[in-house]
Amino acid sequence: MPDLRFLGMAALAAILIAPSAGLAQEETPESLPDFAGRDETFGYCIGCHSMKVVSRQGMERSRWDETLNWMTEKHGMPAPDADMRKTLLDYLAQAFPPKAPSQGGGWVNPFAPKP
Ligand code: HEC
Repeated sequence: MPDLRFLGMAALAAILIAPSAGLAQEETPESLPDFAGRDETFGYCIGCHSMKVVSRQGMERSRWDETLNWMTEKHGMPAPDADMRKTLLDYLAQAFPPKAPSQGGGWVNPFAPKP
């Protein structure tokens, strides 16, 4: 017969610890670059994955456009209507543009002619 008081304490501890563990991972729109369409984009993408998956990419608008198709066709994202698509693309292209080597971190071809 297990000690029921101990089980009760363990259950209470789990209840107390669980919400704070969840909170540590919570993402908010405010953690993203501040451009028009931020909240809409956050709301659209966060349903399936962290915005870190998005923000570690840096792409041209046309590549973001392809990404939206990819999310829709391969992953079952609800297709955005024309207005929403524009909002998402405007935001993504501004907030996560292709990373220029001058922003640091990017790979630079050592053989490229100096500007
Ligand atoms: C219905 C679910 C769903 C929604 C909504 C969704 N995605 Fe995804 N997305 C996925 C899945 C699943 C993956 C993992 C794909 C893989 O790497 O196989 C993914 C991966 C990605 C990646 C990573 C690609 C890489 O090369 O690592 C990017 C970028 C991305 N999504 C962008 C977006 C953007 C932007 C939105 C919002 C406009 C969005 N996704 C909304 C399901 C979704």
